[in-house]
Order: sequence, then structure tokens, then C-alpha cells
Amino acid sequence: MSHDNALSLLLNILKNERETSLWVADEHIPDTLKIAANPVVEVISNRFDVASSLAKQGWRAHFSDLDFSHLQDRSLTTLYLRLAKERAVVNHVINQAARVLKTGGQLVICGEKKQGIKNYAKQAALCLAGKANIKKRGNHYLATITRGQMPAALLDDKRYSTLRITQHYGNSEIISKPGQFGWNKLDSGSVLLAEQLKQLPIESPETILDLGCGYGFLSLAAHQQWPDAFITATDNNAAALISCRENFKQQAISGDVVADNCASNITKKQSLILCNPPFHQGFSLDSNLTEKFIATAKRLCTPAGCALFVVNAFIPLERTAKNHFNRQQLLLNDGHFKLFRLFDV
Ligand SMILES: C[S@@+](CC[C@H](N)C(=O)[O-])C[C@H]1O[C@@H](n2cnc3c(N)ncnc32)[C@H](O)[C@@H]1O
Repeated sequence: MSHDNALSLLLNILKNERETSLWVADEHIPDTLKIAANPVVEVISNRFDVASSLAKQGWRAHFSDLDFSHLQDRSLTTLYLRLAKERAVVNHVINQAARVLKTGGQLVICGEKKQGIKNYAKQAALCLAGKANIKKRGNHYLATITRGQMPAALLDDKRYSTLRITQHYGNSEIISKPGQFGWNKLDSGSVLLAEQLKQLPIESPETILDLGCGYGFLSLAAHQQWPDAFITATDNNAAALISCRENFKQQAISGDVVADNCASNITKKQSLILCNPPFHQGFSLDSNLTEKFIATAKRLCTPAGCALFVVNAFIPLERTAKNHFNRQQLLLNDGHFKLFRLFDV
């Protein structure tokens, strides 16, 4: 069913669920996974590919930044979660559970010990003023927390839904929020790429694609360099898209911010493509992701254009890029990151 045992366990339970319930699904669910729809289970996913794939399979799936506002207080019997990587996300879901679960309703969390499941279960029991029941299945755990009468103090979710200034780059303020990769820091690889934009002999590009844009750092850097370029920024993560839209607005960047799975619905060719590709899917490394992003860059690059990719030094990007682009130039390798220019002519 799935190579993630904790997720497989959860999916087996969801299959047999008979009461109205909610499943919070994130990047742990591969977009290729086939899961028979259960009509009593509603799904919220902060990943565009996951929400689209589940909706196509008949699930009542919504893409949002884990927005529970359509759910009434104390309306839900069960809320399911496969433990997410980011603490603010898990705490946000637990806090929402305290509001939307009925008294006696259950929060069911699957995950591994090293992912902190026991501690989360303890914290959730405090927050929901209830009891946690933890069962071990192989190397993963199933924690069921029953909501008590009077939920107690909320957990620290880093003010999950609030946009705020987290950084500066050049003369731009950067706005971001929890729920996405490195939301409150600058990625060192991306900074390396951004600094190179100032030195590369690239003629003013008319169109730029920021592929896997996050909160839009590379778009901001490109806008500082080429203020007239039309920038399309795309990501599959809802929190990233909300932040990126705000950065486009604040910096008056001419362009679009598009929710998509590796730009699969984008067709317009681009003079310059900027990418710091993901290499994790949930808690695990996924080497196919690099290939997927390079293939997309090739599809969307104008014949005379180029793509700039920055990756961790251990990622064999040169091998993968060879299958797609005629030429590649290693612009920089500082031992931590490699920066490549991929092009055809
Ligand atoms: C290493 S981060 C780079 C973020 C940003 N460009 C930066 O430089 O700070 C990779 C980004 O790819 C996004 N991503 C992961 N899988 C994706 C997919 N299938 N489609 C689009 N974006 C994806 C992640 O949400 C994340 O924002």
C-alpha cells in the first residue's frame, strides 16, 4: 500500500471508518498512491498534489493551509493525522482538534518513536484535557487521545496562521509563516544562487520561473536584479504560496504565484528558471524529485534560455541533468552546495 508503515496503518483504519471524521494529509502521501475513497472522511491537505490526487480518487479533499475554519466547534468524532515533520504543523492540528472534536471525540496520530510520537501524545492529552492511549505496532505507534470536557492550554504553534517579517535580503523585507520548508530562515544554497545572479552574464530575462518557490526568496532576488521581468512562482505547499503571494504584493513584483505539482499545469516557456529542488518527501529522501524538477525545467525553458539549479553537494545532479539538457556548467561548488547552469545552446 505505502512504504511508510505508519501511514499504511492509518490508511487501514481510514478504510473502515464509519463516523464523520477528518483526515489531515500532508506530504507523506505520494501523489501516485491509490487509496479507495471513504465518503464519511473529509480530507484537508496543505499539499496541492496530495489534495488533487485524492480528489481525483473520489475523496472529499480540500487544498488549504490546514484551515479548519469551516468546521463548527465540537462537531467532529475523529481527527486523523500521520505525524508531520514540522512541530508548528502538528501543534496547530492538535490545537484545532481541541476546538473541533466533540467531548469524547478522538485525535488519532500515527508515527515513529524517533519522530517524537510519545511526546506529542503527552502534549495532546494535556491540550485536549483527555487521556492518551499509545499502542506499538512494529517500529511505529498509534496514539489515540480522547478529548475531555474542558480543553486546557493551547500548544505553541508559532502563531501558525500569521504572516510576519522573518528576514531581510538586500533592501527587501521577507514575509513568511510556519507550515513550509525553512519558513523562518534563508536557505544557504538559495543565497548562493541569489548572489550569483548579480555576476552571471545573463541578458535581462523577459520571463522567469521560480520552480518550488517556497516563500519566494529566489523571486525576490531575481526581482532586485531584473525589476522588469515577469516572474511566475510555483509551489505545491499552501503555506509557501500564501507567503509568496504576500511577498509579491509587498515588493510589487509583476508576475503570478501558482499552486501546482512541479509546474505540471504551466505551459508558458521561460527565459530563466531558478530552482533549489526538494529532496525530501515527508521524513525520507526521494531521489526522483530532482529528476522531476530537471525534466520540468527542460520542458519550460526557451531554446535560448537556461536553468540555474542549486543542490546539496551530495546530490548527483550532473548525472540526471545529462538526460535532459545538452549542456551543463558547474558554476560553483563550495563543498556544501553545487550550482549549475543547464542549457541547450
Ligand atoms: C529546497 S525548497 C526551496 C524553496 C525556495 N525556492 C528557496 O529557495 O528558499 C524546495 C521547495 O520545493 C517545494 N516542493 C516540494 N515538492 C514540490 C512539488 N511536487 N511541486 C512544487 N513544489 C514542490 C517545497 O514546498 C519547497 O518550497
